[in-house]
Amino acid sequence: MSFTIALAGKGGTGKTTLAALTIRYITEVLGKSAFGVDADPNNSLGAALGIDFEKSISDMREGIIEKRLDFPAGMSKERYIEYCIEECIVERGKFDLLVMGRPEGPGCYCYVNNLLRKYLDRLGTNYPFVVIDNEAGMEHLSRRTTNRVDLLMVVCEPTVIGVVTAKRIIKLSQELPVSIKERVLLLNRVPEEGLNEKVLERLEREGLKPRTSFHFDEEIFQASSRGTSLLEISRDNTTYKALCQFFNGCVPVEVDSSLRSE
Ligand SMILES: Nc1ncnc2c1ncn2[C@@H]1O[C@H](COP(=O)(O)OP(=O)(O)OP(=O)(O)O)[C@@H](O)[C@H]1O
Ligand SMILES: [Mg+2]
Repeated sequence: MSFTIALAGKGGTGKTTLAALTIRYITEVLGKSAFGVDADPNNSLGAALGIDFEKSISDMREGIIEKRLDFPAGMSKERYIEYCIEECIVERGKFDLLVMGRPEGPGCYCYVNNLLRKYLDRLGTNYPFVVIDNEAGMEHLSRRTTNRVDLLMVVCEPTVIGVVTAKRIIKLSQELPVSIKERVLLLNRVPEEGLNEKVLERLEREGLKPRTSFHFDEEIFQASSRGTSLLEISRDNTTYKALCQFFNGCVPVEVDSSLRSE
């Protein structure tokens, strides 16, 4: 069974940044392989990992729905759809990435979507770790990729509105038909001088205790401005080191040996 980590939070809080660094931690520190799922229609996890992807799941699904793709003779429709999904996976040795693209539309082709979910669930179990970067909000988690999450990382900006939104996202996550083992709140881009009094008060009032905080990080900001991969920032980067420390004791170091290692 793989260990699934999902990231959620308000827009622009740092979900993609932390998802990319999580993949780096799994591959670099734990020496395990990871399956990254970019479930944000804006497709940014690939960029944060320095990957140009060619085809998203939504491109593939639309192709099938519009019947632009011919099913090859001798191949069942089901096997063909699996083949098309495999074609969308970008392999990087230590980790693979799948870009979901746009969510299914109202006129969805349920046969394709059902197969897709079934296949993704099975595919995810081949890897010791699955990391899902989500778009802002939570609703889509239930219909997109998985119905089981081991660790939900709710990323929060250090503002009063950020805290209120994080609380709402945590509540929403409790109402989803997704089994979530553990939820943690992470503060990101905290100024050097620390948290504002109002933010501290609000955290207390909402009954929220951040598990860890990351400061504003110039190296991350520069990497993002230049469009460089977060796999290339220094190993001593403060945010990366703090994330590694947070994960120690929080994710399993020993995983099912039948699953792919690096
Ligand atoms: N600790 C940090 N210090 C400095 N800049 C940061 C930090 N974390 C994230 N950023 C920057 O903030 C911006 C938004 O981060 P990111 O794209 O990870 O957020 P997001 O939550 O995934 O956004 P969206 O909701 O649009 O998907 C990026 O430019 C990123 O480089
Ligand atoms: Mg993002």
